[in-house]
Amino acid sequence: MKKLLKGIAVAAAAALTIAALAGCGAKKDEAKTDAPAAEAPKTEKSDAIVFGTNAEFPPFEFISAKGGVIGEFDGIDMAIAKQIAEDCGKTAEINNMEFDSLLVALQNGQIDAVIAGMTVTDERKETVDFSTPYYTATQVMIVKSDSDIAKATDMADKNIAVIQGYTGEISVQGMGYSYQSFKKGTDAIMELVNGKADVVVIDKATAQKYVNDNENLKVVEDSEAFEKEEYAIAVAKGNTELLDKINSAIEKMLADGTVNELAAQYAVTAEE
Ligand code: ARG
Repeated sequence: MKKLLKGIAVAAAAALTIAALAGCGAKKDEAKTDAPAAEAPKTEKSDAIVFGTNAEFPPFEFISAKGGVIGEFDGIDMAIAKQIAEDCGKTAEINNMEFDSLLVALQNGQIDAVIAGMTVTDERKETVDFSTPYYTATQVMIVKSDSDIAKATDMADKNIAVIQGYTGEISVQGMGYSYQSFKKGTDAIMELVNGKADVVVIDKATAQKYVNDNENLKVVEDSEAFEKEEYAIAVAKGNTELLDKINSAIEKMLADGTVNELAAQYAVTAEE
């Protein structure tokens, strides 16, 4: 049954690919007419979709020593990016950068799309357009196993660590607590392990990965304090041509169970 469904999905994908060949990737026509090939920005290559990410966010994106689904890049988002490109008859290229730089790079035309476990927020929506969401997430707290922190308000008098520019930082800001922000999740975790921080606020799936990889840590959830978040792919404002292709690919992957399978697969990997 699953096979049959997949077969139908493949047929649908093939049809989509034909329809999509002319449309995927930004500014293709300009590249052909205006710019000499050697000087054309990466996004104007017609055979690749350039995705920006920040590969510091397992299980969504991380660098794998064994090699990942796109070069050295592995994770749920990387598999999704690869499938989107394939549906467009193109290859996926990854441009790894700081999380804070992603939306600027998109606006500059340095990349075609951002796939980075990025939560849709009203503020971000002012500068970029988001795809259909593909994953529901929430912020959680990572604490030492013997910590007495049981809900978000328990953080009030504690040393809180967040990651710069993540929605975890925005949540803690909204609660009015002071905090220290770090460039990477692993830096914040080090601070917790070394006893300099009492709690790290970060997305749940990533938190679970860190807890699996480090002794004596646990995840504490507070669904009343932290709102539901949705991850989506971002494109430059008004790039409906690419957004339409991305949305078709995502909707297909949601419908045929690909996203669920990837989430399960990479969660298992994360526990190894
Ligand atoms: N979901 C959070 C946010 O928007 C964290 C995303 C971090 N992603 C990454 N690839 N480092 O902002």
